[in-house]
Amino acid sequence: MRIGVMTSGGDCPGLNAVIRALVRKTEKVHGGTVIGFRDAWRGVLEDDFEVLDIERCRGILPRGGTILGTSRVQPYQFEDGVTRVAEAMRRHSLDGFIVIGGDGSLGAARDLMADGIACIGVPKTIDNDISATELTFGFDTAVHVATSAIDRLHTTAEAHDRVMVVEVMGRNTGHIAVRAGLAGGATLTLIPEVPFQIEQICEALTRRHNGNKFASILVVAEGAQPAAGSMSAAKYEVDRFGHERLGGIGQVLASEIEGRTGLETRVTTLGYIQRGGTPTAFDRILATRFGVAAADAAAEGDWGKMVALQSDNICRVELDAAVSHPKTVDLDFYEQVVSPFFAG
Ligand code: F6P
Repeated sequence: MRIGVMTSGGDCPGLNAVIRALVRKTEKVHGGTVIGFRDAWRGVLEDDFEVLDIERCRGILPRGGTILGTSRVQPYQFEDGVTRVAEAMRRHSLDGFIVIGGDGSLGAARDLMADGIACIGVPKTIDNDISATELTFGFDTAVHVATSAIDRLHTTAEAHDRVMVVEVMGRNTGHIAVRAGLAGGATLTLIPEVPFQIEQICEALTRRHNGNKFASILVVAEGAQPAAGSMSAAKYEVDRFGHERLGGIGQVLASEIEGRTGLETRVTTLGYIQRGGTPTAFDRILATRFGVAAADAAAEGDWGKMVALQSDNICRVELDAAVSHPKTVDLDFYEQVVSPFFAG
C-alpha cells in the first residue's frame, strides 16, 4: 500500500499526532509507505513531498503545528487541478490520499472521489463544527486555552469592577464559546446560533453592577451576530481563497456596552493562541486513534469515508455526511445548561 497524506486548511493541535500514528500503523502493520505532501494540495500539484517513516516522525507527538505545513489550496481552484492530482497519483503509485482537514478540505475530498481520486478524511478543527463526529481533535486544546484565559481575566476584571469581553474562535458555530464559557464561569456566552439582543445584555449588566462590586465576563464567539436591527454588526474581509476572515465582534460589542451602560468595558481577543502550541492529552489520544483508523481504512480500500468519533468509538462515515452541513451547538444544551448561568 502507498498513500499520500496532507494537512489542509487552518492548523490545529494534534496534526502531528495523526501523521505519526498513520505512519506507524501503515509501516509496521500494513507494510505500506506514506508520502507526505507539503502545504496540502499545493505539494501534490507541485510535486513537493517527502517520504515519511517512523524515524522522521519521532518526537512529533506533542508538537503543535504540522511538520508538513498547510495551506488552503484546493485542486478545484485550477482548471487542470484534478488532472495534475491524477498524474501525481500515477507518478507516486498511490492508492489514494489521507486528507486531514476541516469542512472545506473534506468537501473537496468528497468531490475528488467523484472525479476518481481516492480520499479518506480525518476531521480536524478547533471549531468542532464537522458533522457525523462528536468531536474533532484540537477542540479540547482550544477549550482549555480559552478556559484558562477566562480564569485569568476574572481576577483582573474583579480588581477593577469591569466588564470583560472575551472573543473566541469557532467560525459560524459556538462550540468553543459554550464549553469555555461554562468551564470558566462566564456571566454571558454569545454564540452565532442565537443572535443576541444588545438591550437585554445591557439591562442585565446594569442590574448586576448596580451597587455591587462585580466583574462580568462575556464570552463571545467570533461568528456571533446581533439580532437584526438592534446594533451594527462586525464587518468581515474575504481572503484570496474566498474564506471570510471573522473576528472583531468583541470590540464592537465592548464599545456598544460601554456606550450604553457607562460600565468600564475591556476586550480580549484570544485569536491564534487557541490554535497554537501543544495538544492536550485528550487531543493527542483522539488524533492518534484517528491516524490509526485512517491507516486501517486505506489498507481495506475503504475510500470516500471519514474517520469519526461516536459514543467513544472510532467509526467510518461517508464524507458527504460529514460536510453536507456544519454541526452547530445543540440549542437545548445552550438553553438548559448555559443560559441559566446568565447574568445572575
Ligand atoms: O477554522 C479554524 C479557525 O481557527 C477559525 O476558528 C478561524 O475563524 C479561522 O480558522 C482563522 O483562519 P485563518 O488561519 O485563515 O486566519
